[in-house]
Amino acid sequence: MNSKTATVPTPNKPIALQIGQWIFDPLGYMKSNFQQYGDIFHAYVSWGSRESLVMLNEPQALQYLLTHDTGNTFTAPGEVNEILEPLLGRQGLILLSGDHHRHHRKLVMPPFHGERLKAYGDIIQQITQEVIAQWSTESPFKVRSAMQTITMRVILQAVFGLREGERYRQLERLLSQRLDMTGSPVSSVILFFPWLQKDLGSWSPGGRLRKLGEETDKLLFAEIKERRANPDPNRTDILSLLLQAEDEAGNGLSDQELHDELMTLLVAGHETTATALTWAMYWIHSLPEVKENLLAELDARSDESDPLQLIKLPYLSAVCNETLRIHPVAMLTFPRRVEEPVELCGYQLEPGTLIMGSIYLLHQREDLYLQPQQFRPERFLEREFSPYEFMPFGGGVRRCVGAALAQYEMKIVLGTILSQLDLALLNQRPVPPARRGITLAQGKPVWIQNKGPRSASQSWKQQPVTK
Ligand code: HEM
Repeated sequence: MNSKTATVPTPNKPIALQIGQWIFDPLGYMKSNFQQYGDIFHAYVSWGSRESLVMLNEPQALQYLLTHDTGNTFTAPGEVNEILEPLLGRQGLILLSGDHHRHHRKLVMPPFHGERLKAYGDIIQQITQEVIAQWSTESPFKVRSAMQTITMRVILQAVFGLREGERYRQLERLLSQRLDMTGSPVSSVILFFPWLQKDLGSWSPGGRLRKLGEETDKLLFAEIKERRANPDPNRTDILSLLLQAEDEAGNGLSDQELHDELMTLLVAGHETTATALTWAMYWIHSLPEVKENLLAELDARSDESDPLQLIKLPYLSAVCNETLRIHPVAMLTFPRRVEEPVELCGYQLEPGTLIMGSIYLLHQREDLYLQPQQFRPERFLEREFSPYEFMPFGGGVRRCVGAALAQYEMKIVLGTILSQLDLALLNQRPVPPARRGITLAQGKPVWIQNKGPRSASQSWKQQPVTK
């Protein structure tokens, strides 16, 4: 880094206009600032009223930021994520800071790794098979809702150990409704303007959000109460582990802490993976050569019934990576705060400044990804990218706790669907990306027609894709 001591460039458009563009056209906002200012610039995304923060997309500076975010130079404060409080509550991982955050992460991480994760392989495959068995050949279906059904079942199983029952069905319905309230660029406005969250009666967005919140809470607290009353040491779901967890003083988590942690995992773990799966289905079925390569790889497996074989397939992994690169579900990392004067990309940053990594801009850099607008899985087979060149799950102390589960799930769900069914994409036009709450999802529904079971001998060429 050189000795330039200039301050970080600031776009000179009116702040209200910038916030408006960030809400309704987040990619356009980031791209135009990148074209004008490059690696680092101030941005207005409504955090903390009218204050700006800094967006960064240069890999070396991102590496420095995310390998120094626990110490004296940067921190990863949770309170600045308050935009998510209406959805998640105040005491879940995303809104916690410092030691409290570190302690909760230690409790939450184990079920997402190693042997525990492997045990989910069979469950994910079974859930996928159950869901696709319901897909009719009579009429087309929206891919997003089908994927949401799968990811909701997987996360309810991982978090609660719940697969069936009335409470499960009610939770599924209520969570979907609650998330749909911020599910388009227009309805996302409620997240960015907290006064819209005020309860002004049952007709108002704030009133509906409160009512849905109360109904979900009732179910979650009932489940917590039941499980406290009937502890089962053999259960390995996250709720069971959190119920047993105690700090050094022997104190366990309160009902409210448990509730907020469960809500965080349910929301973060279900929507994001469903969006990524929907994009993957879209790309695979719009690009015949990608589908052909994938089917060839799937058909060459020695044992189709073993979901763990899917995890190791190179082309399937490359398709999942390219899906997460081209339209990263999380456009930004959570904010990190500067704690002592520091230089990044040659600019001086003062204590108190908030910095977010722009995952989208990083993944669109032409110096890393040739023709970045093209979906080309081969780029992940041709070279290895560092964790700061390709980072769909962020990094540092807040790196996504569900990253391994999400990647596992994507491969098993896609591998299972593709090897069993012959599907065709019905969209006649390209599907653009658009904001969904704080994430990036599809701007239009992706429609698919089930053409019936597929056998390994059946070539995709005999069943042309309708486009
Ligand atoms: C394709 C799917 C997913 C994507 C793209 C994604 C992406 C991300 C990103 C970018 C972050 C912020 C990292 C940072 O600031 O450095 C994050 C955090 C987080 N993710 Fe994910 N995620 C996905 C799936 C999941 C799943 C399946 C779960 C849980 C079951 C989950 C739970 C979380 C939680 C709890 C955090 C906050 C961690 C903390 O504050 O310490 N995510 N995710």
